[in-house]
Amino acid sequence: MRIDFNDLKPQHRQLREEIRAATEQVLDDGWFILGKQGEAFEREFADYCGVRHCVGVGSGTEAIHLALLACGVQPGDEVITASLTAVPTASAISFAGATPVFADIDPRTFTMDPADLESRITPRTKAILPVHIYGQVAEMDPILEVGRRHGIPVVEDACQAHGAEHGGRRAGSLGVMAAFSFYPTKNLGACGDGGAVTTDDPVLADRLNLLRNYGQRKRYYHESKGFNSRLDEVQAAILRVKLRYLNGWNETRRAKARLYDSLLKGVTPPHEAGYARHAYHLYVVRSSRRDELQHYLAEQGIGTLIHYPVPVHLQEAYRDLGLSRGCLPVTERCADEILSLPLYPELLDEQITEVAEAINRLTSEG
Ligand SMILES: Cc1ncc(COP(=O)(O)O)c(C=O)c1O
Repeated sequence: MRIDFNDLKPQHRQLREEIRAATEQVLDDGWFILGKQGEAFEREFADYCGVRHCVGVGSGTEAIHLALLACGVQPGDEVITASLTAVPTASAISFAGATPVFADIDPRTFTMDPADLESRITPRTKAILPVHIYGQVAEMDPILEVGRRHGIPVVEDACQAHGAEHGGRRAGSLGVMAAFSFYPTKNLGACGDGGAVTTDDPVLADRLNLLRNYGQRKRYYHESKGFNSRLDEVQAAILRVKLRYLNGWNETRRAKARLYDSLLKGVTPPHEAGYARHAYHLYVVRSSRRDELQHYLAEQGIGTLIHYPVPVHLQEAYRDLGLSRGCLPVTERCADEILSLPLYPELLDEQITEVAEAINRLTSEG
């Protein structure tokens, strides 16, 4: 039996009637941008994350970009982030006119190493952007402490971490702002692009509201230079339906991750940090035989992906930074060894067993 890396169809089959009704409501209302669905979703998602404000935007990339602008990042500034991330983390920094600076990561959690972060701070550092990669929150206490000590705001890249927790608090409520993506494959995914910024700070929320809507507060009166980056009403209505299922889906992801943990041999399973409650957006194992393993699984009809084969600092697009292999040894070693296995709420336990058995077959061959 073929096992796809991901399949969004079963989720939408299950929610078909609810999504259809929500979408039809928007058509009946005849209002598509910045309306009551978006406002309701913003309230509900802010409550979910445990903050006072949520501002819906066009994508996760835009959420990071606008959050950085809202906290005053300007051309020539530096923003410290991780290199083992989706390239858009860095693109958003570039679009704010700033330079991404990469801190190395912890080899067990794949998230920013707080000690290395501190060594990268310069007078030009204007924001710290830890990435809650694969659904596990970065080690925020020491990261926030570094930020406090140097007077630098910490913005969470929570694009992969809807519902993930850190010391009992949800991702999105830990930094001064947090950026979320609702790209369809995320734990909370729209049926198109979408994103949001969460924050407790009303001044930042106000700035974000202006930035996403051409800098206008009152129609045709522009207070500042802004962008067009809004979460549309159809996506907001769909996200409101799906938000009600998010906790259940995350619990299922966790149970399926535990099943993988109990079955896998010969590869290093993901590590859940003591402070964290992992949301398992991705289930990422490590193996020194990664490429051979991926090839073998493909032969068995099992889809896997590598998130991400080339860390940002070694991407062609960032050659201008002048960083080469050896700059971030832990990041580079992880990028060579990571493999994402199929994991989504509707994946059957039998399919997980089949994936694990295939892996165990190869790794026991030595
Ligand atoms: C960690 C991370 N940051 C940023 C983004 C960008 O989000 P989007 O694709 O919605 O622009 C993504 C999603 O691809 C992501 O996984």
